[in-house]
Formats: sequence, C-alpha cells, structure tokens
Amino acid sequence: MSNWQPIPSKLLAQIPKTYAMADLVAEREAMRARGIDVLDVSIGELHLAPDPQAREALARAAADVAFNRYPELRGSRELRAAFADLYRRRYGVELDPDREVAVLPGTKTGIVELSLVLADEGETVLLPDPYYPDYPSGPSFAGARLGTFPLDADAGWAPHLDEVEAAAALYLNYPSNPCAVCAAGGVFEDAVRWAERTGGAIVHDAAYIDLVYDGRVPASFLATPGAKDVGVEMWSMSKTYGMAGWRIGFVVGNAEIVERINLLNDHARVGIFEPMQRATIAALEGPQESVAGRVATYQRRRDLLADALRAPIVCEGTFFVWLRLPEELTAERLLEEHRVAVAPGEGFGPSGAGWARISLAVPDDVLELGAERLAEAFAGIVV
Ligand SMILES: Cc1ncc(COP(=O)(O)O)c(C=O)c1O
Repeated sequence: MSNWQPIPSKLLAQIPKTYAMADLVAEREAMRARGIDVLDVSIGELHLAPDPQAREALARAAADVAFNRYPELRGSRELRAAFADLYRRRYGVELDPDREVAVLPGTKTGIVELSLVLADEGETVLLPDPYYPDYPSGPSFAGARLGTFPLDADAGWAPHLDEVEAAAALYLNYPSNPCAVCAAGGVFEDAVRWAERTGGAIVHDAAYIDLVYDGRVPASFLATPGAKDVGVEMWSMSKTYGMAGWRIGFVVGNAEIVERINLLNDHARVGIFEPMQRATIAALEGPQESVAGRVATYQRRRDLLADALRAPIVCEGTFFVWLRLPEELTAERLLEEHRVAVAPGEGFGPSGAGWARISLAVPDDVLELGAERLAEAFAGIVV
C-alpha cells in the first residue's frame, strides 16, 4: 500500500469538477437503464461522414512513412498558406500565413489558451450570456475573474457593448451556440469600438461560420475594419468539414496574440500529426460539395422540426435550435414525462433560464421521433 498523498493542485481547485449537463445526462442514463426509450436531441454528435477528400488524404499520408515523424511545431507553411487562401476566397480577409495563423488541435484548445495568454490572475474575461458551456474553463485556468454581458433576445441576441465594462478579453460567438443566430448588423463593429475604448482584446469563436441557412453568407469578424488590430477569430474543421474528432482548428488575426498562442504551444505541444495536416489541406483546397451537403442536411432537419412543432423556430446558423419553453415545461419534465432529452437553457448561463437547445446533429429518425414527442408536449401551449 502506497502512502503517497498528492499535494492539492491549486490550478485544479480553480476549475469546475463537473459540466453543465451532467445531471441531465445522469438522469437520461438512469431512465435508459430502467428500459425507458429516451430520445436524446440535446447534444451535437456528428453523424454525417467527414469530408471525403480529407479521409482519402489522411489514409494516403498515414501510409507514407515520410509523414510519420514529429511535425513542424507551428504547422507546415503549406497548411498555413492553404488556410490563408481559404480566408481570402471565402470571407474576403487577408492573412499573413507566417504571422497571423496559428494551428491548434481544435478550437476548444484555443478557447482555453486564449484566456491564458490574454488574462492574468485577477483580471476579467467577459463572456456573452448565454454562452457555450466550455467558455468558463479558460478564465478558471487563468485564475481570472469571469464576467458576463447579456445578449438581447429582442435584438437578435446581440449585446449592447457600449454599456459593457472594461476587461482583459471579451468573447463573442456567431453563429451562436446556443442561440443559433448569425451576428446582427453592427455587432462586430461595436466589438472593435469596445476594444478600442477599453484596451481589451476580442476573441471571436467562428466554429459554425459556414453552417448558415436560407442563403446567408458566412461572415468573418476579421472582415470588420480594425478587427485585426484588436482581436482574433477561432475557426474549426469540426463543423464545416465534419471532422470533429480529428482535432484541428485555427486561431487567426492579430499577430501579437497569434504569436502568444504559438509560443505557449512551442512549450506545451508538438504540433499536429502531419497526415492530419495533409488531410486538412485536401479539405480546404478540394471541391466543397461536402460543405454544401452538410448545410442542406441541417437546414432540412430544421424545417422538419418546425413542421412537427407547427411553430416558427429560429435557426439562422449552427446545427441547433434555441427554443423558448412554455412556462409549464422544463427540460426535466420533457425528459421525465415525454422521454425526450433537450439541453436545458440554464446550462448556458443565467439568461438561458426558460429556454432549451435542440440539436439537429442527430440521426434523422431520432430527430423525427424527438420532434413528435416535443410536439406532443407543446400541443396547445406553443403559439
Ligand atoms: C461554439 C463552439 N465553439 C467551439 C467548439 C469546439 O470545436 P472544436 O471541435 O474545434 O474544438 C464547439 C463544439 O461544439 C462549439 O459549439
């Protein structure tokens, strides 16, 4: 028997021991264990195949011993250049591949690391409320104070940034998870003005930038005049190319912030496996049919849900629908009485109370049956 007693970790004591949906997931599993057929439409699980060019290039490169070695720490020049080309073509933004593009194992990594490199202990990191539940982790690790600013439901979930206090960094996320809206006109310009007024940095999470519907055009924060002087954008292969488990993403924009991220990773990581980089280049440069296919599938599922609920629902982007629940209904009641698991709004911050998030990233049959059960629960209540 070992007498080893680990000294408590101050760092770990700062971060939450559980995550927002843990209770609901536990209840879902308990019900399933009792033989109840719970339908889960709460979480975004990608059931669509990843980009075909990426799959092919990964298999080819993995079979080539020349690629099976330590990669360049900051990603190959070819990958960074391919990404800068995509930004120019798709969003009209010029990026210097050597100074303005950092390659990361997914944007979740960027979410945490950006707080670490932008906020010191005791400084403030501001999150939009409602927010993606992974955001508080970064400020917790950094020992920073976590602040929130409300998004205005009546203004397309836009913030009123002229009323927002100074902070070391301010996170934004459009298309928004969970609110499923694109950035309302003027939001990115207001963000640049907030940064200029306060000296804080803007972090824009564009993980769902290409999953936008009804003919909307994907929009980058970095296309806003002055944006690169004050902030960065996080961009993910997970949603656009269906490569969620592959773990690759980018932090782009302000050269000083990109350099801080790269320096942190020079010490903490050893780059991205080269076959993964080849796969990413193949996806970025190849035919883009798989992106269009993903957009068409989610839009069709959104319309299916709207038809089933017989109510107008908002989903301008992402693969979620953010739904106001009638007062009589809660996520718990939907689960216990109607056997359908949705993500409770409170898990996304105080402003989420009374709302629920429904995922369109579930198989068609699960969504269809889930929509039926939601419709049954809403019957006579939703107008
Ligand atoms: C808003 C938002 N940002 C970032 C991520 C993480 O993406 P990645 O797979 O690139 O880490 C997600 C994943 O669900 C997300 O919803």
